[in-house]
Amino acid sequence: MSYLIAVTGKGGVGKTTVSALLIDRLIKRNFKPVLAVDADPNTCLDALLGVVARQTVGGIREEAREIAGKGMSTGISKQELLEMKIAECLVEAENFDLIAMGRPEGPGCYCYANNVLKSVLTEISSHYPYVVLDNEAGLENLSRRIVQNVDTLIMVTDPSRRGLETVARLHSLAKEMELKYNRLAIFVNRLRKNELPEYVSQIKTETGADMVIGLPEDTELAELAETGQSIEALSSNNPVIRHLDEFLAKAGVI
Ligand SMILES: Nc1ncnc2c1ncn2[C@@H]1O[C@H](COP(=O)(O)OP(=O)(O)O)[C@@H](O)[C@H]1O
Ligand SMILES: [Mg+2]
Repeated sequence: MSYLIAVTGKGGVGKTTVSALLIDRLIKRNFKPVLAVDADPNTCLDALLGVVARQTVGGIREEAREIAGKGMSTGISKQELLEMKIAECLVEAENFDLIAMGRPEGPGCYCYANNVLKSVLTEISSHYPYVVLDNEAGLENLSRRIVQNVDTLIMVTDPSRRGLETVARLHSLAKEMELKYNRLAIFVNRLRKNELPEYVSQIKTETGADMVIGLPEDTELAELAETGQSIEALSSNNPVIRHLDEFLAKAGVI
């Protein structure tokens, strides 16, 4: 069984940054290979991890729909063909593999292809001790039931009151959707002072979050975004990395 970490939150709060750094920290501790799932249609986890996702599952879904519609006259089954296609999307790096979902569904029925995607993800996930899922804003992917049982659900926010209110809203949504998770952690990112905003305690109670982690505003991370470099370029004593190490230890993930 693999351990699934899913990272959610509104747009631009640091989900992809946190996902990439967590993947890196897991690898550094020898918890590998990690499966990185980029579930944001704007595919950018690959760049932060220093790889390139040339094909996305979204693109293949389009093909899958045609396959499902036409039926196949070759010897292989539709399921096998789709599995092969999805395997083509897997980017293999030394310590992790990455699969990018690409654009979401267009018009028409994708149920069949979506179900295949779900079963293939479940199947390939079992080969990895850790799976990290970087989501688009909101809970779209989780609501499509692409993953069902999350071990640690991370909700990332900025320190603003509105950001924290979004966390509470996401939590209500997760509850409505009956999303199963064992642990909820709220990450308050880009703190300019070395303390959490007061309002956090209310949100922690409201959501029943197990942990609240503060991550500092960091110039190295900001520069990384400007230059488009991967997280390899960060110094080993980067304060955000330090906080994530503490989180992994505290959360009992490793
Ligand atoms: N702790 C931080 N300090 C400075 N910049 C950060 C920090 N966390 C994220 N960023 C920057 O914020 C921007 C959005 O981050 P990103 O991870 O892409 O957000 P999301 O995936 O939620 O849309 C990026 O330019 C990133 O470098
Ligand atoms: Mg992102």
